[in-house]
Amino acid sequence: MKKIALITGASKRIGKAVAEFLSEKGWSIIIHYNSSEKPAEQLAETLSMKFPTQNFSTVKANLSNEKEVIELIPKIISEYGLFQLLINNASVFNPGYLKETSVDLFDNQMNTNLKAPFILMRDFANHCKKGNIINFADTRIASNRSDFAAYSLSKKVLWELTKMAALEFAPAIRVNAIAPGVTLPPVDKDENYLDKLAQNIPMKKPGGVEPILKSINYILENNHLTGQLLFSDGGENLGVPSNLPPDGEEELRII
Ligand SMILES: NC(=O)c1ccc[n+]([C@@H]2O[C@H](COP(=O)([O-])OP(=O)(O)OC[C@H]3O[C@@H](n4cnc5c(N)ncnc54)[C@H](OP(=O)(O)O)[C@@H]3O)[C@@H](O)[C@H]2O)c1
Repeated sequence: MKKIALITGASKRIGKAVAEFLSEKGWSIIIHYNSSEKPAEQLAETLSMKFPTQNFSTVKANLSNEKEVIELIPKIISEYGLFQLLINNASVFNPGYLKETSVDLFDNQMNTNLKAPFILMRDFANHCKKGNIINFADTRIASNRSDFAAYSLSKKVLWELTKMAALEFAPAIRVNAIAPGVTLPPVDKDENYLDKLAQNIPMKKPGGVEPILKSINYILENNHLTGQLLFSDGGENLGVPSNLPPDGEEELRII
């Protein structure tokens, strides 16, 4: 039987790296996108040429739109049949302290980063009935920094949802989460920015996507693992290292 995975937000960056990694492990991939149609189509084409016995398709849905999210899994199943792996990777990452957070900003972070994964997990459990769910949290859930208040809240609750679902869906479905830290620079920043940021974490360098891919592999290969969170963050969740230079770097800690 073909192993099929749905990865949300898979056309670029971490989602794309996950799609490429799973392809090498024999998975067929449903590449979800919202605005990145061309990169998604290109990725499907490249993977189809590289792995001709597997299937690579694309599906569009705006995950901040409840109706589109509710339609997504039934639509996928009617086209491709049941699938065995759901990866909730897509997210929005917008800044704002609590005092600055409008209801619109709050709703957008919550709808895309929490409500959509909730609906997709529920529908995966009801329709597909067995397999794996992996949710992308963030190392920020280990702290109470509020510079990305609504984003951080959405990821904190996503982790709680991961545990609740792991308990309810076991043993047929395992549900785990990955919490990346300094991985890729935001789209408007470069690697230099990331290197500077990484000076504030215990491992002193950005992890790139490799630790995340290894965590995904570990989750998939360990068939007794459920309800767990793997930090892929070079120790950032532990706090700020005590050997930081005293001056000048303060603002990097809160980016
Ligand atoms: N990058 C990091 O250093 C880092 C650090 C910690 C945690 N993470 C977590 O790791 C995951 C991947 O990170 P990333 O930086 O690769 O993510 P990203 O580039 O910011 O976003 C991934 C994809 O999410 C999709 N997306 C955004 N809004 C959407 C919507 N309304 N409907 C449907 N799709 C939507 C976009 O798809 P389209 O382009 O098709 O619109 C985008 O390509 C995220 O969950 C993130 O929170 C990342």
